[in-house]
Amino acid sequence: MQGFIIEGGTPLKGEIRTSGSKNAALPIIAGCLLVNGEVRINDCPCLSDVYSSVRILSCLGCKSCMSGGVLTVSCKDISNDHIPDKLMRLMRSSALYLGACIGRLGSCTLSYPGGCELGARPIDLHLSALEKMGVCINEKHGVIECSCPNGLHGAHISLSFPSVGATENIMLAASLARGETVIYNSAREPEIADLARFLRACGADIAGEGTSVVRINGVKELHGCEYTVMPDRIVTATYLCAAALAGGELMITNARACELRPVIDVLCEAGCDVYGYDDRIYISRKRPLKAVGTVRTMPYPGFPTDAQPLITAVLSRAAGVSVVAENIFENRFRANPELVRMGAQIKTEGRIAVIEGTQSLYGARVMAADLRAGAALTAAAISAQGITELGNIEYIDRGYERLEKALSSVGARIMRTQI
Ligand code: EPZ
Repeated sequence: MQGFIIEGGTPLKGEIRTSGSKNAALPIIAGCLLVNGEVRINDCPCLSDVYSSVRILSCLGCKSCMSGGVLTVSCKDISNDHIPDKLMRLMRSSALYLGACIGRLGSCTLSYPGGCELGARPIDLHLSALEKMGVCINEKHGVIECSCPNGLHGAHISLSFPSVGATENIMLAASLARGETVIYNSAREPEIADLARFLRACGADIAGEGTSVVRINGVKELHGCEYTVMPDRIVTATYLCAAALAGGELMITNARACELRPVIDVLCEAGCDVYGYDDRIYISRKRPLKAVGTVRTMPYPGFPTDAQPLITAVLSRAAGVSVVAENIFENRFRANPELVRMGAQIKTEGRIAVIEGTQSLYGARVMAADLRAGAALTAAAISAQGITELGNIEYIDRGYERLEKALSSVGARIMRTQI
């Protein structure tokens, strides 16, 4: 299998640029389905999930071309409203084609999405919201058939949980629906705001993104535009945690400190020096790491669950006892058993991990079980003594553009090979 061979022990030093955000680009690409024209997406990350999105668009009759970080999409001639199961299973974001397809065509047939196995990850909030907007949903044997016999109309929707995906799906469907849609208890993640800015650039009437109440007035048609995707705040968090673990100093460009305050606060408490500027973040770690008490993952603007595996890896080297509470997903400590193989002292019980920091981690043969667990193990291996073989790196390729190249450019000894 493809893997990383990592020789740990070298501090990081240099400058690294964060790529465009996966979790902003994926809903924006789905949003292209709503547009009767050509869309040019700049700083689109070259990721396997992006290529999976392009395959779904193509299956629906859209044309697209990816070149040099620019994705051009034309959905003028949509010829199909059915997404096959094998494409739906490629990623979680395939669920977003529900709202986009219904918004544009008034019908859609698809199955349940795939994605990292972090727990059940149902789409009940997505489906119940769309039903309120006039969608008739017929589910059988895992296939979801949707139609709007009386047309798609706006609705007032209260989300029982500020679900990122459900908020995005509603925004996509509402953009071309008849009348006003109001989302109460909307997710407030920066990626939601990026989707809203993109849709507005195409002529949508949206307000309130980034707050808990988002209002969308449906319009007749959306036109093409050119849009630049926001920086990937979780990739930035990955680089910050890699520097915290390996020691040394990094300047991370195309990075927004304001979107990562909880992560930066924890790293400073653990003994790093972190300074945020307009579009860059500087980090140095010259002193031994120290425990931080309890880290709780929460919806934005709380501590992001996607950075939880990364901070767990950092705290495994922080002198003292730290506790991590995972409040978003029921199965998101999948890096922990592998970190224990590297010498970490972690007790995991349900949604709680108790971490007793150790002086060193040691190279071992470990496996990525999901995207962010793989990134956490990569960061841990860079700081470990000896050689680590990390397998299943296709998970990492879903969310990072050649992670090994980025980290090698600032001194890490890491290479991609067969293991
Ligand atoms: C998005 O997933 C992100 N993925 C995730 O990033 C991220 O961890 C998550 O938001 C939370 O921030 C993308 O944007 C592609 P949710 P999503 O709907 O939309 C439950 C990564 O590593 N829920 O906010 O699936 C759900 O089970 C990925 O880049 C329902 O119960 O997240 C979970 O426990 C991993 N019913 C919680 O809500 C629903 O209908 C949060 O899910 C929807 C969600």
